[in-house]
Amino acid sequence: MIFYFSGTGNTKYLAERIGDKLGERLVGIADALKSGDTAFTAGKGESVGFVIPVYFSGVPKCVKEFIEKMKLTTGGDNYTFTALSCGGNTANAGKMLGKLLSEKGITVNASYSMIMVDNYIPMFNIPSEEEANRMLEEINPKIELLKEKIAEKKDGDFDDNKGAKIMTAVMYPFYKPFRKTKKFYANDKCISCGKCADGCVDRAIEMKNGKPVWVKSECTQCLRCINACPTRAIQFGKKTEKRNRFINPNTEI
Ligand SMILES: Cc1cc2nc3c(=O)[nH]c(=O)nc-3n(C[C@H](O)[C@H](O)[C@H](O)COP(=O)(O)O)c2cc1C
Repeated sequence: MIFYFSGTGNTKYLAERIGDKLGERLVGIADALKSGDTAFTAGKGESVGFVIPVYFSGVPKCVKEFIEKMKLTTGGDNYTFTALSCGGNTANAGKMLGKLLSEKGITVNASYSMIMVDNYIPMFNIPSEEEANRMLEEINPKIELLKEKIAEKKDGDFDDNKGAKIMTAVMYPFYKPFRKTKKFYANDKCISCGKCADGCVDRAIEMKNGKPVWVKSECTQCLRCINACPTRAIQFGKKTEKRNRFINPNTEI
């Protein structure tokens, strides 16, 4: 059983590849939160994975909420691992995730990570489609190696992409103010498709008179709405109009 959360597809793709190798089913954290179905049973010997992206050198808000709500019954002999997807460094995000899980009585056997394509468009430009595809050509074979490593089911900390661990203490406090939705808007390119509202893990977007309206003051800031908008109508502040968009082309979101 592999729990995953993904805004723009990187982490879903990673979870799919690992799930294929281990023969484990995927559980979408966004779907579980939306349905309210947060009780799970992992059979004896089943692997249990938590595959999530790094936000502000820490754990995304919706993942934290999910772990707080989830009830996981395990049959014993379970190999429990975390795998983080990041744009550069994980810092202490793995430790933060491990602590959240241990507070629920879940002991992590091993932690892993993978550097994917950065999708954080509010602060800086992200790779163009061409650059992203080139990066993914290099990343995908590394995912193949990672899934082989996970399948060995060894105990330990195998996250080689931590960088400066202090970054979690420095960056994570900025996550809350940056989660405010007031800078999101849709310009006149909006075609009223509703994809943004349907894909929002927090149900923070509602379609009103055919246009998206951010009805909650905060969200997880997964940036699916802005990156997946088919007409690039969604913006965050003044600078995103000219910036690139990214959706991992190797999976469906
Ligand atoms: C709100 C937010 C904050 C992020 N913060 C970090 C970070 O601190 N360090 C990092 O390496 N990548 C950071 N990223 C990049 C993502 O972790 C990375 O692109 C990840 O692969 C996205 O996964 P997804 O496509 O499944 O959403 C951030 C992305 C978002 C949306």
